[in-house]
Amino acid sequence: SSKCILTGLWRNELGSKMQIQEVKGDGTFSGEYKTAVSLARRPIQPASLNGSQHFDEAGQPTFGFTVNWKSFSDSTTVFTGQCFVDENGKEILETMWLLREKAKAPNGWEATRVGTNVFTRIKGQNV
Ligand code: BTN
Repeated sequence: SSKCILTGLWRNELGSKMQIQEVKGDGTFSGEYKTAVSLARRPIQPASLNGSQHFDEAGQPTFGFTVNWKSFSDSTTVFTGQCFVDENGKEILETMWLLREKAKAPNGWEATRVGTNVFTRIKGQNV
């Protein structure tokens, strides 16, 4: 069975791209995320991501990572998901995310957004 490793370049249905560096022996990884969309007023810049994946015998590991948008936004996003390999060997990352926007006061009931993203692998291009 083909194993899914997160290392490489990925794009989601919004046009956002991420590059994940090598997955270490303990499953941790880091990389760079370039979002295609933003709530922030400042211009979009690449942001660092840090996460962790399982090494799973069936090759369909779950994972999670955090993106800190610190260079242009006060928000933080966490993604969790699973990598699937279809019968043609094509990998997809099925994810859900939570985005916390900076609230003006405690109890920021409006400050968290939720959504889904699907990523496919891209080749030969930097984020
Ligand atoms: C911000 O707007 O404050 C920072 C950028 C947030 C981009 C979000 S993260 C979840 C969703 N998936 C993407 O690829 N981009 C948006």
